[in-house]
Parts: sequence; structure tokens; C-alpha cells
Amino acid sequence: MWTREQRYRRLEEAAPEEIASLLETVHACPFRQTFHIQPPMGLMNDPNGLAYFDGYYHVFYQWFPLGPVHGVKYWYHMKSIDLITWIDEGPGIRPDLDFDSHGAYSGSALEQDGKLYLMYTGNKRDENWRRYPSQCIAVMNQNGEISKWQDPVIPEPPNGYTEHFRDPRVWKEDGGFWAIIGAQREDLTGTVLLYSSPDMKTWRLEGELKTNLPNFGYMWECPDYFELDNSGVLIFSPQGIEAKGDEFQNIYQSGYLIGESLNLLSREFHHGAFKELDRGFDFYAPQTMVDPNGRRILIGWMGLPEIVYPTDKNGWAHCLTIPRELSIQNGKLIQTPVKELEALRKQKVEIQACIENESKSFLGLTGTTFEMKIKIENLDAVECGIEFRANNTKKTVLKYEAKRKRLILDRSLSGESVGIDYGTIRACSLESELLTVHLFVDVSSVEIFINDGEEVFTARIFPEEDGQDIRFFANHGSMDMTVEKWAIS
Ligand code: FRU
Repeated sequence: MWTREQRYRRLEEAAPEEIASLLETVHACPFRQTFHIQPPMGLMNDPNGLAYFDGYYHVFYQWFPLGPVHGVKYWYHMKSIDLITWIDEGPGIRPDLDFDSHGAYSGSALEQDGKLYLMYTGNKRDENWRRYPSQCIAVMNQNGEISKWQDPVIPEPPNGYTEHFRDPRVWKEDGGFWAIIGAQREDLTGTVLLYSSPDMKTWRLEGELKTNLPNFGYMWECPDYFELDNSGVLIFSPQGIEAKGDEFQNIYQSGYLIGESLNLLSREFHHGAFKELDRGFDFYAPQTMVDPNGRRILIGWMGLPEIVYPTDKNGWAHCLTIPRELSIQNGKLIQTPVKELEALRKQKVEIQACIENESKSFLGLTGTTFEMKIKIENLDAVECGIEFRANNTKKTVLKYEAKRKRLILDRSLSGESVGIDYGTIRACSLESELLTVHLFVDVSSVEIFINDGEEVFTARIFPEEDGQDIRFFANHGSMDMTVEKWAIS
């Protein structure tokens, strides 16, 4: 058990030998990833401050340095020119002032006058452990130097709201600055508050966003708002939503509303139903950015709070998802892996086959870290699917029940177990037939894009090292498939 003192110990208090020994423990972990952003040690959570600025994509993330637990949070900084090779910039924001003494919590970025403004939540607690959240600003110049403003710009939650007031998402519109902030009403329901500012220094509370979800969970974390393909999109991570059928199976949810553009004056947001962004086990608190090509790119935290992960014993936890490009089709967010990832492709194996009442593997088609695209045709099997990261006893399974158009990701036999209190399968029903499956498999994760991004399943898996087999199966009938697989190393 980690004591409060241990969780709130700062990186700066740790002796070099302690850090060296922690790094050694991390490096000895068999589950370190090869093409995902992961912390050098300690725990990462939400992606923060996503931006394209000064020729680089910038990604920060929530970081507790000294172990695999939630404690005093830093912003860790990575940057990249191509979204695949990441330069480690080290800690970006440190919790070193009174108002952020218990953590520089999540926030977002906005470029203005050649600088990148980082708006984040200062988390402070008093001796009785009462929380005082404030919204703060740090500014990064073109040399990558980050300096904090000495006072919060929004010093406290407004009347009528609790201490759960965090994760500002800032943007510029109509010549002014706007921010939405996750909040909890005094009646313990979640919402989002809208603020405006002429200069980013003085902020005025406009009020709540008016959605048609007045009573939807007890807290909305990490809101994000943007316009895409002529619609308004509000992403947030509500806590306290009950599981319903295949939906909302994780401890906390993460999803979106699509509607008309948000009316900044009336704060009205007319929208459709809340939909989950991801159907897998490990996905939370995503954030988006827009790049010079106008692409809206999303990155999520491939993890969830309050769950023990097998990497904990090696002193680190979690990673980020690969970047996904967003678009809207038929009132739904479509997510596709960014094209840049193709540069990771190494040896290619291609196969065309008919699978009929059997489970089949192919010579040379195995792997630990790979990308694989499967095109399915003439499907008349009752069920079909793929087993991967498999050996004789372990496997991760994606199964399709054709009649119900239902996809099931099963990690009950994946390897070391994780989060089993929340079940070992995740499922969803498709609107159309299953046509394509696109997998990105890393040492300890899988991201599966279905039908060119209609649905995504994201999961950590902790397979055995020799679990490299890939098998395809079709029961009670057959399917034709074309498989392209590339090693990623
Ligand atoms: C979401 C979250 C945010 C908060 C941050 C703290 O995972 O709880 O609401 O700002 O993590 O690390």
C-alpha cells in the first residue's frame, strides 16, 4: 500500500540512486511497448495540451513519477514531427507552486502570438485534505521553455458547484477566448461550465452548457469541444454511468455527443444520443487537436483509474493510444489510425484464403508487434474470428456473431489478468456487416478498428512472450479473407 506521503513525494525529492533503481525495474518489464507513448517510470494518465505548434505535434500527459499510483501529478512533454517518432522533452509542468502543490491536473493548449498557452487545473489540498481546484496558465515559448503565471486565472469553483472542477479545454472563436471545464453540481451531478475571456487573463463564467443530459453521472471529466464536418462535437468522460447491455462496461466511460454548433451566447447544444468512443477495456480521457492539414486527431489514455495492472510490479503503468483521425458519417464519429503509422511497417505477409469450419494458421503469419488488415468477403459462417498473441494455452480472441452482427473481444485467456472485476469480454453490435478488421498489436496492447473506423476496441493485454500465433476461424460455414500483415519493430 502506498501511503499519502509516498504518493505526494516529488520527483525532486528522490535521490539519483532511487530513480536509477526504479528505471532499472521498469526496463526489466516484459510488457514495455514499442510504438506507443509510455512513461519512463511511474504512472501516466490523461493526454494533455495536444497541439500542433512551431512545426511539432506536442503531447503532454499526466504523470506521477515515483511509482505506478495516482499521486502528485506533473505534465510530461513529448513532441514529434510525424506522430510516430517522439522526442522526450521531460517534465513540462511541475507542481511547484502553492495553487498546484498537489498536482498540475489535466488541461489543454492554445497557440497565440507565437506561444503555446497551456491551461490546466491546479490541484491543492489543505491539512484536512480538502481540495481547492483552480484554473491556471503556463506559457511555452518557441524554445520549449515553459513558465507559469503566478496566479490562477480562475481561482475557485463558482457557487453551486463542488471541488470537482477541472480539466479546462480552451479555444479561440469570434475574437475571444472560450473554455469549457468539467464540473460537479452541488446535487452531485456532472456538467460542463462555459467561461469566456477577452485576453486569457480575466475569465467570466457564462454558465452551464445546456445539453439534454441534466442527470448523467456524478462528474464529467476532460471535456473537449470542436466543430467537424459542419457539426458540433462534445467529448467528455462521465463518471457514474451504469452498465447497460454491452454498453458502459468500464469503471468510467468516455464518449461524445454530436449536434449543431454550440451556441456560445445561449450555451445551447442540440445533440443526439451519447455514444461511447471505444468498445474496449482500456480507454479514457481522450483529447483532440487539429493539425495544419485540418485533420482532427484524437489520442486517449489507454488505461482507467482504480485498476491494478500487471506492470505495476515493475514500477510503471499505462500508455497512450495511437493517434486517430476523426470524421463524421451518419451522425457517428469515425476513427481511423493516422496515415503516418504506415511508416512503421516492416516485413509484409499477404494471404488470401477461404476458412471453412476450421481454425487455421499460416506459415510465416505470426507476431508480437504488428499491424494487420483483414478484408472479409462471402461470409456465410455463423461465427468467425481471429485469435492472436496466442500459444497452446493463451490467446486473445475477436469473435463475430454474424446473425446479431455482434463483435466480441475476449481477453479471459490473454495472459496475466487485469481488471477482471469488470468482466473479461467487451462487445458491440455493428450497423452493417463486418467487412474489415484493422489491428495494431503492441507488446501489451491491441487496438482494433472495425469497418474503417465505425467502431474501435482498445485493450491492454499481457500475453506470454511466446504467444505469437495468429489463427483465423469460421464455424458453421465459411468466409473468404484477404490478410495483409506488417511487422512493427
Ligand atoms: C481523469 C482525471 C482528470 C484529472 C486528472 C488527474 O483521469 O481524473 O479529471 O484532471 O485525471 O490526474
